[in-house]
Amino acid sequence: MAVGDSRRGALGRGGLLALVAAVLAWACPAGALENGLARTPPMGWLHWERFLCQTDCSQDPRRCISEKLFMQMADLMVSEGWRDVGYQYLCIDDCWMAPSRDEKGRLQPDPKRFPSGIAKLADYIHSKGLKLGIYADVGNKTCAGFPGSYGYYELDAQTFASWGVDLLKFDGCYCDTVDLLAEGYKTMSRALNKTGRSIVYSCEWPLYQKLMQKPNYTEIKQFCNYWRNFADIYDAWNSIRNVLDWTTLHQDNLTDVAGPGGWNDPDMLVIGNFGLSWDQQVTQMALWAMMAAPLLMSNDLRHISSASKALLQNKEVIAINQDPLGKQGYQITKDNNFELWERPLSGGAYAIAIVNRQEIGGPQTYKFSLTFLGNGLACNPACSIQQILPTSRNLGLHNWVSFLKVLVNPTGTVLLKSVVIEEKRVVGGTHALGIS
Ligand code: GLA
Repeated sequence: MAVGDSRRGALGRGGLLALVAAVLAWACPAGALENGLARTPPMGWLHWERFLCQTDCSQDPRRCISEKLFMQMADLMVSEGWRDVGYQYLCIDDCWMAPSRDEKGRLQPDPKRFPSGIAKLADYIHSKGLKLGIYADVGNKTCAGFPGSYGYYELDAQTFASWGVDLLKFDGCYCDTVDLLAEGYKTMSRALNKTGRSIVYSCEWPLYQKLMQKPNYTEIKQFCNYWRNFADIYDAWNSIRNVLDWTTLHQDNLTDVAGPGGWNDPDMLVIGNFGLSWDQQVTQMALWAMMAAPLLMSNDLRHISSASKALLQNKEVIAINQDPLGKQGYQITKDNNFELWERPLSGGAYAIAIVNRQEIGGPQTYKFSLTFLGNGLACNPACSIQQILPTSRNLGLHNWVSFLKVLVNPTGTVLLKSVVIEEKRVVGGTHALGIS
């Protein structure tokens, strides 16, 4: 009797099925794309918002989409300390391709703008300790009109893997039906896995699906490492505001699904560009950390103020964004013009953000009770509180009936972190603590 037969005999048909199910459940647990990637939100740089689709290098050599641009950014990501604080993925967006596929049907880069080819660019980027991201589209064309991957999913996945690509942003333009959209996103996910190369998979599936029907986030999370839900970000407070309002409105669905391996993507960080005031930049950084969002900057690392750079490189904020518990934060209350957000962190800590949405007047004070944070557990019986943004300072020890007062600029945010303290560690018990 063959080994397989004897096992079948011992287990019986039901036993065998149960065993297969158990092995499958272990190998691909329901709920997340378990490709081992994006255990925390990916961090890096993506060209789109700042550089769009300039393909004429003779007219604009410093800003056109070319290998030079990415090599310069790679150099700066290392020399200016971006890589060392975690910004690792250097990502190409739309407009890198030649207008047609090669004679074997493969995507090819524009030969004038990427004369060395993507594999060479990937080598360069890898030699700097960075990873390379690339862009393609599930439909017949990319949003800017370059060749789409429809009908070529396997070939494109293999091409990207053979070039040494580490991340794929897969857009959803020019895809006519919701079924083709879903099938396309799933097929590309499987094709990427089949290459055997670790390639983070960034989807815009829910954004395009939403135009036709309600996204099924449980399904999306099984195939994608992160996904765009909302319209493209642009360099203005209005855009940041829209993202935050939409996210708050849908936060129950969104926070449930986010976690290690799969994240909601509210789109690029536009900090360091032209449109946001200082306080609005603080708000974007703080809230992207609260939302456990991928931190993909779209700015010009050759021209960035030292204040914006320090904000983007703030290690305490990055630590909140990258917290290993991987829980997405949410708004707990809106009180006139103030929004109060919390995010559970590992070790019983909490990140707390107070956003002042008023767009008239000066700084305003917001006073709130610590009693209800973290369902009553964040500061119970006591906690120490650190202010992280807009400046770092220690706000001392508090107990669970304390009120905290913060001063917040219009459209700005105060970001705090509370760490719970057990009663036995508080000398004299909680009553010994001052109430602020
Ligand atoms: C869509 C995406 C953007 C960008 C452009 C490129 O609009 O949402 O993020 O990739 O396409 O054409």
